[in-house]
Amino acid sequence: MRKLIQRVNFIYQFLKKPKEIGAITPSSKHLTRNILSFLDFNKEKLFLIEYGPGTGPFTSEIVKRLKPTHQLVIIELNSEFATKLKEKFKDHKNVKIYQDCVTNVKKIINKIGIKKVDYIISGIPFSSLPKNRILDILTNTKSIMSQNSIFLTFQYSKYRKRILEKYFNIIDIKFIARNMPSAYIFYMNKKKE
Ligand SMILES: C[S@@+](CC[C@H](N)C(=O)[O-])C[C@H]1O[C@@H](n2cnc3c(N)ncnc32)[C@H](O)[C@@H]1O
Repeated sequence: MRKLIQRVNFIYQFLKKPKEIGAITPSSKHLTRNILSFLDFNKEKLFLIEYGPGTGPFTSEIVKRLKPTHQLVIIELNSEFATKLKEKFKDHKNVKIYQDCVTNVKKIINKIGIKKVDYIISGIPFSSLPKNRILDILTNTKSIMSQNSIFLTFQYSKYRKRILEKYFNIIDIKFIARNMPSAYIFYMNKKKE
């Protein structure tokens, strides 16, 4: 029942802001499992950032795997989604949720005092956002990454591959058919200046 309510809410948010939400339904279990397969939770210290979690299909699975020494920062622009996620994860001391635009990521992590980012997992729908917003997001993302940071995003097409390549080295692309719509996972690190 909870999943059905989440799905209905997601569709409602999509109808209100189609370009920002970018999909009519949350990511499937299959896409979630594949995204998670790129993350290594064995390290003692880990700092992860999730962009655009929506109703939180990735978030729930990430949180299950976090050690007390790990930290997860979540940035979601949509106030409905952010409010629900804050309620859901309020007992998790190492999970911080910000209702904000990811272009403010640098300010957010500076405020927390984070120096080293391990993973950025993005749900931002780059295909439907205006180019200037994408460039702003990617510039800010690159600026918080070290050479060891990983930027992981999924997209419903390869339409924005060229733009991603300007900022990042694409190490792997994985096609996921079992999602609505089907999706590509991009696994990337920072391009040297
Ligand atoms: C395609 S949905 C993905 C939701 C979820 N990650 C999933 O896989 O089901 C895109 C999400 O990105 C959020 N979003 C879009 N632009 C954003 C921005 N500039 N900053 C933060 N979140 C943003 C939307 O509100 C929405 O929740």
